[in-house]
Parts: sequence; C-alpha cells; structure tokens
Amino acid sequence: MSSTFDRTTAFCRRFGLQLPILLAPMASASPPSLSIAVANAGGLGACGALMMQPDEIIAWAAQVRAGSNGGFNLNLWIPDPAPARDPAHEAHVRDFLAGWGPQVPPEAGDATPADFAAQCEALLAAGPPIVSSVMGLYPPDFVAKLKQRGISWFANISTVAEALAAEAAGADVVVAQGMEAGGHRGCFDAALAERQQVGLFALLPAVVDAVQVPVVATGGIADARGVAAALALGASAAQIGTGFLRCPEAKIHPAWADALGKTAPEDAIISRVFSGRAGRSIATDYVLAATTPDAPRPAPYPVQRGLTAAMRNAGQNAGDIHRMQAWSGQSARLARPEPASELVRQLWAGAQALLA
Ligand SMILES: Cc1cc2nc3c(=O)[nH]c(=O)nc-3n(C[C@H](O)[C@H](O)[C@H](O)COP(=O)(O)O)c2cc1C
Repeated sequence: MSSTFDRTTAFCRRFGLQLPILLAPMASASPPSLSIAVANAGGLGACGALMMQPDEIIAWAAQVRAGSNGGFNLNLWIPDPAPARDPAHEAHVRDFLAGWGPQVPPEAGDATPADFAAQCEALLAAGPPIVSSVMGLYPPDFVAKLKQRGISWFANISTVAEALAAEAAGADVVVAQGMEAGGHRGCFDAALAERQQVGLFALLPAVVDAVQVPVVATGGIADARGVAAALALGASAAQIGTGFLRCPEAKIHPAWADALGKTAPEDAIISRVFSGRAGRSIATDYVLAATTPDAPRPAPYPVQRGLTAAMRNAGQNAGDIHRMQAWSGQSARLARPEPASELVRQLWAGAQALLA
C-alpha cells in the first residue's frame, strides 16, 4: 500500500493538508463552524455557496480564516439554462403541495438563483486556496482568472466523460461523485441524472485510469472503511458530506440529524421533488407521496425549489421531518454525532490502520 500513501501524501502536500479528508461542499449545510473544525483537524473545509450573496461568501471566508489555517474550498453550481415555464402544470403542483403545507402562490415559482457572475467575482475577492464546481464547468475566462491567482479548481464529476471534459478544461483535481451521494447529483446534463447513475466502486477506478490529475472520491463514504476503500481504489483523498451532518458543528435541524442516524441505504432515494433537479434524500412521507405515479411530475429547477419553499419552511419550523428537505447519502446510518475534529482524526487513523 506504499503507493496509496505516496499518493495521499503528495496530495496533502500540494494542498497544504495534514490528512486526506475533505468536507463536502453542502449548500445550506456549510456553516463556518463545520469547516473550522475540519480544517483544524488537518482536513479541508468547504462552503456550498449556491444560495449565498457575494457579501455572504466573503464573510464566510473571513470567518473560517479567522478560526483556522484557512484550508477551505468555495463551491458554486454552474447555472442551468432558464427553465421552460408551464403555468397550468405548476398550478397542479401547487395544489398537490397545499396538501403538505401552506397554499402556494403562483409567483413562488419565479424564485431566481443568485447572480452567478457576481458570485464568481466574490470567489475571486475571497481568494480561497481552492474553488470547486458542480453541474458543469467554469467558463474559460473564469478558469484563466483562477490560474492567474494560483487558485486551484476541483471539478465535481459523475461520469468518465465528465471527468475527461473537466481535465481538458483545466481542472486541477476531479471529484468523482458516486450515485450513493447525498444531495443533488452533479450531472452536467440534468436530464441524464437518473439514467447515468454510477456507483463509486465502478466510477472511481474508471476515472483514475482515464485522467492524469488527482481524483478525490465522494458519495457514500462515512467511516474509516469507506475512506480506506476509496484510497485503495485510486483516490488521493476522500470527501464526506452526510457523514459530517450529525456533528454538532453542522448545526442542522435536530429532527434531520436524528433521522439520518436511522436511515438505511435503501431509504435514501433519488427524486426531483424538492428542487426539480435529481437529488438523494431521506424517503420521507412527502418524498414517497410525491414520487407515486399519480403525483404531478416536479416542475423544472429552480421552479420546483420555489414552489416547495413554503412546505419546507413550515416543516423546518415544526420540526416535522416529513416536510423538511432532508438530504441524505446512502451511508447516513454510519454518520456519528461526534465533534467534527475528533471524527476527522478517527477516520484517518482508522483508514491508515486498514491500509497498513
Ligand atoms: C445537504 C447537502 C448539500 C449539498 N450541496 C452541494 C452543493 O452545494 N454543491 C456540491 O458540489 N455538492 C453538494 N452536495 C453534494 C456533496 O458535495 C457530496 O457530493 C456528497 O455529500 C457526497 O456524498 P455523501 O453525502 O454520501 O458523503 C450536497 C450534499 C448534501 C448532503
């Protein structure tokens, strides 16, 4: 296993880490406290900045720098084309959602994402050591600006073809996201998210063989066995999302944290019922009802996200897991309610013992 340790050591040296454990960027679940804890244990923090305004991105980076060595990654979604609107169908979806929360006004579907160009400028202004992308690739002019500033680019990919495209576009690292992953699938083409589902055991060696850049593994890794397996399959580091969500520093709703601890792999399922993009969540009562054949098909992203906001907020306020957006990877039950720094150290110590 010396080549495995050589690979992880080279990766850690290049990116200023003490151990090859990365926090996954998680929009709406990336408080500074979690990144500070992971970075202070020697890993890499991360911010899913999708829904953050430029000033919030800059403030997040300042806070994590103040509390840590500044080892973090700022992540953005590459925007999809504007959605096709269908008011009659949206009315059908709104009627369905009224059975789960407050009445949904027609304009709820108009919710517009944050300004991507302004977010990109904020990334440059924040000056992180690493930025990452998901759902596509950064435009060449932005990649050139990253390179000028010495900022590394980690590109999330979920197929071999996407990995090759990312490498050709200048990505310094590809993050291979297995279909076990919690949250949204990072497919470049949203329409292929369900058809092109590749598990991490198949995706990782195929991507490692296809590209020259280092490969980070993500999706369903939540204990030392998963970290060791990912590294043995050729990854240079392991990136973990759901496995950190029960840590106190993640500050997610207690109902969500508790439910993760009880979620079997088969009960974390992929659907479009929260946002219109395919994502893996706990199979709550709403998710199960909204995925039956007679339920209205979800509106496109981000229209569905706007339409479900009232239900999700009501669920959050009531602590009702069945109406909350409870993203979850398939290894949720391995997530432990322990301080994140301690968890990072245990993950790496356990993986090293398994690989020795
Ligand atoms: C709550 C949540 C939010 C997420 N948001 C993002 C995001 O904004 N950007 C991104 O690249 N990936 C996002 N992801 C995916 C993660 O970066 C990562 O691929 C995934 O968590 C790995 O699978 P795991 O949850 O089984 O560890 C999110 C995942 C979760 C669980």
